[in-house]
Amino acid sequence: MEDNFVNSVLTLYKEKNWKAIVNTYRDYPERNKLLWVFPTEKNFLFLRQCLVELGCDRILSIGCGSGLLEWMITEATGLLVSGVEVDGAWWRCKYAPPNFIPLLFTAPTLDKDTKSLLRNANSTALLFCYFNNGPAFKDYLEYFSGNVLIIIGPGEGKGVHTDPKPFDQVPEWTLHAREEVGNTKDFIAVYCKNPKS
Ligand SMILES: C[S@@+](CC[C@H](N)C(=O)[O-])C[C@H]1O[C@@H](n2cnc3c(N)ncnc32)[C@H](O)[C@@H]1O
Repeated sequence: MEDNFVNSVLTLYKEKNWKAIVNTYRDYPERNKLLWVFPTEKNFLFLRQCLVELGCDRILSIGCGSGLLEWMITEATGLLVSGVEVDGAWWRCKYAPPNFIPLLFTAPTLDKDTKSLLRNANSTALLFCYFNNGPAFKDYLEYFSGNVLIIIGPGEGKGVHTDPKPFDQVPEWTLHAREEVGNTKDFIAVYCKNPKS
């Protein structure tokens, strides 16, 4: 059943049919084998509108997993999205999920290349979807030179833990806009960096 799911998504990916992927699998029990949150078509428009408004034309997604979300964002919005994953044996083992975008790998402690990517991030929004590593989140923000941050994850009452959560207080950042993913209790929160005083 699980393999059928992965194979069906791969077929739709080859057909560039992201709409069928999100509409078919948003509530599918095994969905997080490939992706934790399947946004709605409206969510993609919301994301695009926020990023255009805030002067971003690309996204750097940290902890992107298979990259399925990142590929769908590019297909749905035209925004360029690249994805970073932590290096490890998992991504080279035969049970690892397929990759929908080329992955950029980093060491568990940020390496030179990743720091340089974060420091040269004009017009780039930093995305964390169902990220689960609070200390690493802080490190990424410390080196990030851009002004827009997106956190996708569970709201109150979803009963799932992530770090960060979409509505955690993020020092030096202010919530700009938010939207629920259908009626799933998952949220997309878009933050702007506070101006320096
Ligand atoms: C719960 S998964 C979410 C994956 C994907 N974003 C999604 O929504 O399906 C969290 C991901 O964060 C990655 N991760 C954890 N620490 C990381 C770090 N320091 N740098 C990059 N990725 C990291 C893990 O390898 C894992 O793939």
